[in-house]
Amino acid sequence: MKTLKTILGGAALLLAAATGTALAHGDMAPQPVDTKDLPKLGEAWLPENPYRSNPKAIEIGAAAFNQNCARCHGLGAVSGGIAPDLRYLPTGLDGDEWFLTRIRGGSTRDGRVYMPKFEGILSQEAMWSIRAWLETVHEE
Ligand code: HEC
Repeated sequence: MKTLKTILGGAALLLAAATGTALAHGDMAPQPVDTKDLPKLGEAWLPENPYRSNPKAIEIGAAAFNQNCARCHGLGAVSGGIAPDLRYLPTGLDGDEWFLTRIRGGSTRDGRVYMPKFEGILSQEAMWSIRAWLETVHEE
């Protein structure tokens, strides 16, 4: 009985590992981000992050990044090389503008999607939360 359990346990682990690998390669459904504890931002796109240094937003953004962005940009935003290392994105307004452009529109070149667009998938609240967290791991 003990042996059977061990075998079954091993199989489950293997399955988990296989699924993990498939996810790491990209066909992962976007994860919903719960931002109900943050001030609502409305319909219009803001030019600058309204949540900069907001501890709640930073906490939400850290999780949202790991669920939606880390598979390409790396856990903790430390890139493994397939996508830019976002720790080096400029802080402040310049970085905000570029961040919003990319996260809303993604990046397609020669018909190939380098980065999927997140407009219509993540709320503006979720996007700026991710940005608030990113600035906490910024490197010069
Ligand atoms: C499928 C992989 C993939 C996912 C998922 C992804 N990105 Fe990207 N991202 C890329 C690639 C590749 C580029 C470079 C695009 C280019 O140079 O045209 C990029 C570029 C960017 C840039 C611009 C960086 C620079 O230095 O110019 C930002 C900002 C960014 N991504 C943020 C995000 C955020 C935030 C998320 C999660 C919501 C995310 N990305 C999810 C692949 C991805």
